[in-house]
Amino acid sequence: MKFAAKKIDLASLKTDCLVVAAFSDGTLSTSAKQAQELFGLSIQSLYDSKDFSGKVGQAITLHHVSKKVGKVLILGFGEEKKCTPSTFRTAVASLGNALGKNSDKNISLLVDDTSIEGWNSEHKSRSCAEILVHSSYQFTECKSKTDKKTDLSITYGSDDTPSAKKGMVIGEAIGNGMNVARKLGDLPGNICTPSYLAGEARKLARKSKSLSTTILSEKQMKDLGMGSLLSVSVGSAEPAHLIIMEYKGAGKNVKPHVLVGKGITFDTGGISLKPGAAMDEMKYDMCGAASVFGTMNSIVALEPKMNVVAIVAAAENMPGSKATKPGDIVTSMSGQTIEVLNTDAEGRLVLCDALTYAEKFKPASVVDIATLTGACVVALGKHATGLFSNDDDLAASLLESGKNSGDRAWHMPLWEEYQPQLDSNFADMANIGGRDGGAITAACFLSRYTKKYKWAHLDIAGTAWNSGSQKGATGRPVPLLTDYLLTR
Ligand code: BES
Ligand code: MN
Ligand code: ZN
Repeated sequence: MKFAAKKIDLASLKTDCLVVAAFSDGTLSTSAKQAQELFGLSIQSLYDSKDFSGKVGQAITLHHVSKKVGKVLILGFGEEKKCTPSTFRTAVASLGNALGKNSDKNISLLVDDTSIEGWNSEHKSRSCAEILVHSSYQFTECKSKTDKKTDLSITYGSDDTPSAKKGMVIGEAIGNGMNVARKLGDLPGNICTPSYLAGEARKLARKSKSLSTTILSEKQMKDLGMGSLLSVSVGSAEPAHLIIMEYKGAGKNVKPHVLVGKGITFDTGGISLKPGAAMDEMKYDMCGAASVFGTMNSIVALEPKMNVVAIVAAAENMPGSKATKPGDIVTSMSGQTIEVLNTDAEGRLVLCDALTYAEKFKPASVVDIATLTGACVVALGKHATGLFSNDDDLAASLLESGKNSGDRAWHMPLWEEYQPQLDSNFADMANIGGRDGGAITAACFLSRYTKKYKWAHLDIAGTAWNSGSQKGATGRPVPLLTDYLLTR
C-alpha cells in the first residue's frame, strides 16, 4: 500500500475511485457537493430511494462518473454534528473492507472535510492510513492457494498537507506494526516457537542500523538465576529464549523505555492441563510478545529520537516428564521463592524474571504486555485492555495514549489489600491468588518484581485476538504502545 497526502482539485483529478463523505441527516460534505455538481450526480435521489441513508460505514458506489474518475464511493459518517473519532474509525474501517477486492488501484480519499471534535488533519490521515493498512492484512503463510488483494495507492486529500503527511507516516507505521503482531499471533504453535521469535528479532536487527539484538539461551538464563522462567519451559522440547532488542535513537545517557512481552508460544496449561475446548487459541498466548515486535517495527520505521528496549520472554508451556508439578518451589532471579500451585499460571512465572532482568537498563519506565488472565476477560470483556501500575502518572499517560489511538485501556486497582491472597505456607509467595480478582492478584504478583522502577502492566487477554468465525489476532495494543513511546 502506498500513501500520499496532497491538496486535491476535483476538476483535474484522475483516479479509479474517489471517496467522499455524506451524512445520515441528508447533508453532504463539501467534497461530495462539489463532486455532485462537477460530475452531474444526483446523490439526493439515493437518499430518496432509500438506497443510501448515510449511516456510519454504509457505502454506495456510482460508476462511470467521468473520463478521469472511474467511480465515486459515497461513505456514510452518521449524523454530521455527532461525528466522533469512533464513528470516523468505523466508517473508514468499512471502507477498508470494501477496498482491495476489485481492480481499483488508485484511491483518492476526500474525507478531511468531516469535522470531528478535537481532531485535525493529522489525526484523520493517521487513522485512515492505520485502518487501511490493517484491512489489507491477509494470513497467507499456511494456505496453499490465496487470492491476493490488489496493492493500493491511497491519496489523502487535505488543505493542510504537512499535518496530513505526518499523520499518514505514523498511521502507516502503526498499521504495519499491527500486521506484524497479527501475523506472529496467527502463526500456529508448531511454527511460531521461541526459536522462531528469536529469529524474527535477528531479522529486524538486520533491517535497521539502530536496532541490536541479544538472545539468551537456557544455559545463560540458568547462570542468571532465572529459575522461575525456566520452570515453565522445562516440560517442553522447545528451549526457552530471552530475546532483547535495543533501539538506540538517542545518546547512551538517555534512559530507555522498556517493553516486556509474554511470549508463551503455546500454553497447554502444563501439568495443570487446560480443558480441550478452544485450546488451539492458546497459540495466541504470545500476543504480548507479538505486540512488542509490532511496536518495535513501528519504532524502527519512524526512528524517534529516544531509546527503547524490548524484552520478550519466550517459552512453551507443556506437560512433560520433567515438567514442573503443582507444589514445586522455584527460585526467581530476584531471589524470591515461588510455590507453583498451578502450572497454568505460567505467564507471571516467565515475566517476573524478565522484569528483574529489565533493572539492568536503568529504565525510565517499564511496560509489560501479557495475555495473562482469563479473569481479565471476565472483568472487562473484549473492548478494554486491563491496566495496572505502581505509578499514577505512567498510568495516566498510557490511558491517554489508548484514547488517542482508539486502542483503549481501563485502570484497575493494585491495592495492598489484595496481596495476602498470594501467601504461601512453604515459599515467599504462591503463583495463584484464588478466584477472586484473578487479574488483580496476577498483577500483584508482578508488582513484587517491579519495585525499582516505574512500571505498568497491560493484561491483553481480552483484546489481543478475536474468536469464532472472525478468529484472528487484532494487533492490539500496538497503537497504544506506539503512541505512548512517540509521546515520551
Ligand atoms: N494464557 C492464560 C490466560 C488466558 C486464558 C488468556 C484464556 C486468554 C484466554 C494464562 O496463562 C492462564 O492460564 N491463566 C490462568 C490463571 C489461573 C490458573 C490463576 C487463568 O486465567 O485461568
Ligand atoms: Mn496458562
Ligand atoms: Zn498463558
